[in-house]
Formats: sequence, structure tokens, C-alpha cells
Amino acid sequence: MNNLNQFAGGVHYVGVNDRTTHLFEGLWLVPLGVSYNAYVVLGSEHTALIDTVDAEHATQLELKLQAVLNGRKLDYIVVNHMEHDHSGALPHICRCHPEATVVGNAKTAAMLDGYFGIKGVHTVADTDTLSLGPDCTLQFHLTPMLHWPETMMTRLVEQGVLFSGDAFGCFGALNGAVVDRDMNTDAYRLEMYRYYASIVAKYGVPVQTALRKLDGVQLNYICSTHGPVWHDQLAEVVQTYADLAQWKAEPGVVVAYASMHGNATGMAEHIAGQLAAAGVRNVVLQDLNVTNLSYVLMNIARYSGLVVGGPTYNTQIHPRVAALLEALKNSGMQRRVVGLFGGYTWSPGVTKKMAAALDGLKIDLLDTLVEYKQTPTAADLEAATALAQAIAGHIAL
Ligand SMILES: Cc1cc2nc3c(=O)[nH]c(=O)nc-3n(C[C@H](O)[C@H](O)[C@H](O)COP(=O)(O)O)c2cc1C
Ligand SMILES: [Fe+2]
Ligand SMILES: [Fe+2]
Repeated sequence: MNNLNQFAGGVHYVGVNDRTTHLFEGLWLVPLGVSYNAYVVLGSEHTALIDTVDAEHATQLELKLQAVLNGRKLDYIVVNHMEHDHSGALPHICRCHPEATVVGNAKTAAMLDGYFGIKGVHTVADTDTLSLGPDCTLQFHLTPMLHWPETMMTRLVEQGVLFSGDAFGCFGALNGAVVDRDMNTDAYRLEMYRYYASIVAKYGVPVQTALRKLDGVQLNYICSTHGPVWHDQLAEVVQTYADLAQWKAEPGVVVAYASMHGNATGMAEHIAGQLAAAGVRNVVLQDLNVTNLSYVLMNIARYSGLVVGGPTYNTQIHPRVAALLEALKNSGMQRRVVGLFGGYTWSPGVTKKMAAALDGLKIDLLDTLVEYKQTPTAADLEAATALAQAIAGHIAL
């Protein structure tokens, strides 16, 4: 029988699937679930577990680990990332395998102590190696701020297997198969945008540094901590990351809005219609009140144009709109053409506040702020049409 959990000779998948968590990190909807990937490398002399899983799934990981070890002892536990979806099960695994040495970098060691009181870590520096036997060498590549300070990648040199941590990961539990060649990956490839936009987007520069480190390194498999192992689609996935890290985009416009009583909705619909009339084929209209922010951020990561709008709320930007603007500011969004609209009933100025919230970003923020009092007038709608046309004119159609 074909063992789809084993690939590249001595590498075994021992990860778990989570189909019950509603919000990943308490923020991001995961309707397709999420996998926490861990791997075992069986060298002829030594064995290593690369990362663990969420604490809730510790027992399941241990059972899989025992099956793969098949009576051999576990020598090393490599910790590429300390976030709890990958380190939560570590104390349990350490208790089950007291003989195993935990391997991490200096920053990992400090976090292992701070979180779990785990000491005596075998500390590695950038490009250090660890032999598991002839033709079975682990090499460590420090990739800080991808997306935590301690993050690193581990490479099984001879087989060209990269254990990349969260990089190249995506939401979506695995459905039987592990390696991309054994499954339909369409949903995962889309979820990679959403994962990146929600969790990694702020760290475009560290992503580019990591990609440069990997440049010229022969890779056959990329084993992320979430989603499929990339083999057939490895080059495309690396390209997706390179593009995302530089905020490269496809032609298209996201119209993201919040509304309480329908005026902003009408304005958003009008703008979307005008964008379509101007020839924009990718128009995504998203209601911030009912859409998990990750889906909005995902489309903003994909498309070159953005319109944000909403009503005044207690003299301020509507909270859902404010949350989006804050997320965009925090992510350091670049290379987008952006238009703003806003409504009020008695206190004007909300669009200026929205513009100020994006201050400092390397974006092309259109000067015309479409601000309307109460029900938008014909002149307000004309201003919105001009805004849509200006955006359509800015993006390469
Ligand atoms: C809770 C709440 C707070 C509001 N605060 C303000 C405000 O501070 N200044 C203002 O001009 N209008 C305020 N408004 C009025 C809105 O501008 C008005 O309801 C408008 O129609 C909302 O736009 P929408 O139809 O897109 O929801 C407030 C409305 C609500 C419901
Ligand atoms: Fe993480
Ligand atoms: Fe993760």
C-alpha cells in the first residue's frame, strides 16, 4: 500500500488536523480547518522530530510519533517556531521522550524557558548542522521575524527538504494526502493568500531576506507547519511568497465598507458598478460588518486597487472601518491605489480621519475624499463615479 505520509526517503509526516477551532489565534475564521504539521526524519544513526503541534493534539502526535519510530528512540526535537500551535505539545513530547535533546537557536532557548521552564537546549546558530547519520544532515537557517523573533528553518540537506515553519503555510486541514502531488490544491493556494495577509503581511522584508538566503539552494520539498507539503508546485508557491512580500498585485479593486442604515452600502454598490463599467474585471465588494477581516485582507493582498468607506460613528471612523485601516497601517501596505468615502449626519470630517489613519504608507491615496451628508446627492454620486474612474485609470487593466 502506498504510504502518502512518507516522502523523500526518511521523512515522515506526523502532523494533526484541527477541524473544530472556529477562530485561529482568536481572530481568523478557519471554515476549512487548519493543520499543525510536524515531521520525523529517520537517519540511520539518529532520529529527529521537527516541530510539534497544538497542546490539544499532543496525545495524537505522540501516537503517530511512536508508530514512525517503531521502537527506535527519539534523539532530537527541533523547534523552528515557538508559537503555541507548534510548541504546545512540546512539554508532553519531552515527558514521553526524556532522552531527546531539544534543538533551537538562542532566542528559542529563552522562550522555551519562559513558556515551559524547558532548559538545557542544544543551541544552534545560522548555518550550523546536525548529523543524523551518513547522508542525513540537518542544517539550520535563522529567519528571524517570520513571523516571530526566534523563527528558523531546518533543511535536510541531502534530500533538499526544507522545514520552513509558518512560511509557505496556509489554512485548510489536510484531507488524507500530505504532498501537493497527491491532492487538488486549489483551495489551499487561495488560503495561502489569506494566511499570509492575516499573519505574515507585516513581515515582507524578513520574508524577502529569507527568500534570498534560500536562493540557489536545491529544494525538492517545502514542508510548512500548515497545509500541504509543496513539491510539484514548489516554484509557484515560492513565487507567490516573493510577490506577496513585495506587495505585487493583480489588476482588481476591493471595495470594503461598513454601513448601519444602508447609505454606505449604496455608495459602495455605486462605486463597484462604476469600476465594472470602467472595465475592471476583478471587483470584490465586501461588507466589513459581516466579513471576517482575513477575507478582506486576503483580497487586498491580491488586488492593486482599494476603496474603503463607511459612516461616522460617535464622531469617529466606524469601528469596523477603523479596524481595517489599522490593520493596513500596521501591515505597512504598499503599492496600492486607494480611494476613501464616508458619510455623516451632523459632524463632518470622517474621510480626513480615515486618510490620517493611513498616513505614512507608501500608497497612492487619491486626494478626492468622497464625503456626503445624510443621503448622497446626485453630486455626491458623481464624485464617487469620478473616484471609481480615477482608480480604474491607475491600475493596469
Ligand atoms: C451609533 C451611531 C452613532 C452615530 N454618530 C454620528 C456622529 O458622531 N456624527 C454624525 O455626523 N453622524 C453620526 N451618526 C449618524 C450616521 O451618520 C447615520 O446613521 C448614517 O445614515 C449612517 O450611515 P449608513 O446609512 O451608511 O449606516 C451615528 C449613527 C449611529 C447609529
Ligand atoms: Fe506562527
Ligand atoms: Fe503556525
